[in-house]
Amino acid sequence: MTLKTVEWKNNVVIMIDQTKLPSKLEYVKYTNYKDIAYAIKSLIVRGAPAIGVSGAFGLALAVSNSKSKTKEELLTELEKIKKILYDTRPTAVNLGWALDKIMNVAKQGTSVSEIKDIVISTAKQMAEDDIQINMKMGKNGAILFENNDIVMTHCNAGALATVSYGTALGVIRATKENGKKIKVIATETRPVQQGSRLTAFELQHDGIDVSLIPDTAVGYTMAKGLVNKVIVGADRILRTGHVFNKIGTYQVALIAKQHGIPFYVAAPLSSFDLKSKPEDVVIEQRKADELTSIAGKKTAPDNIDVLNPAFDMTPPEFIAGIITEAGIAKPPFEESIKKLFEANK
Ligand code: MRU
Repeated sequence: MTLKTVEWKNNVVIMIDQTKLPSKLEYVKYTNYKDIAYAIKSLIVRGAPAIGVSGAFGLALAVSNSKSKTKEELLTELEKIKKILYDTRPTAVNLGWALDKIMNVAKQGTSVSEIKDIVISTAKQMAEDDIQINMKMGKNGAILFENNDIVMTHCNAGALATVSYGTALGVIRATKENGKKIKVIATETRPVQQGSRLTAFELQHDGIDVSLIPDTAVGYTMAKGLVNKVIVGADRILRTGHVFNKIGTYQVALIAKQHGIPFYVAAPLSSFDLKSKPEDVVIEQRKADELTSIAGKKTAPDNIDVLNPAFDMTPPEFIAGIITEAGIAKPPFEESIKKLFEANK
């Protein structure tokens, strides 16, 4: 059974604690939005779609615990909580998308009890939809992959980055479900090692052939012909096809281009930001200790200056296709992305 990353059961949010993987598959239970905000910030839950649904569940916990007596009071309380949840991680567009969606339905409620019901049911529906969307995306993307492909992926865009099934790894799952043999090469993904801790763990868990390389071996692996396709997820995709994803994605795309290896991105329509320009996107900067120590052991001298951006931008000219639940956008992306959204209205 594919892992279920985040779930709502009887007014409790249950999540896999991803900071404990791969050593322990442990679940945490939360009944307060503050814990959800902490879980997102500290990477207990991470990955663009998973943090979107978690944010929605945060607002659902907020309404379920609220003592507000009037609609206006409840909406004011929710706006404040939305901001706290929103501020946890700035780059993935899905978080803001999910919080806005919940606030919009909340505003349509006519009474406190109606708002509570509608917020909780919408958040639960978003979690269900996430799995269906990933499965559709998987089906759409699987046609791009052949029997015996060896596919590189970076970071974790799998079940653990979504409610379940995954985006990039969902395409890998669907390819395998279609009866094709497929091997995955996962990059370690320093500094927090989503590749070795999470992608390697979840693919092994599901019996999908996976091997691990250090980030520094991407060039070596491609130059040796040990990989013939790349697929990654995305935290934000612009109208122009610029893709923001885990730091290091840009390097993988550059090297893939140099070796003529097609580089694909898989992401739901909720990961698109059709308004921003590349320079508007805030790149999250994370704490220095992610870089100056490994598992609590010092790996750099004291007081060293550190630059630790969590994401980078891959320009459209490095991308062969963007796989979504509504179809595959191919270059030129400005046109093909517009068409996808028009067809999906
Ligand atoms: O910092 P993280 O672990 O949240 O970064 C996640 C990624 O960059 C994923 O590739 C991305 O969210 C795609 S999600 C299916």
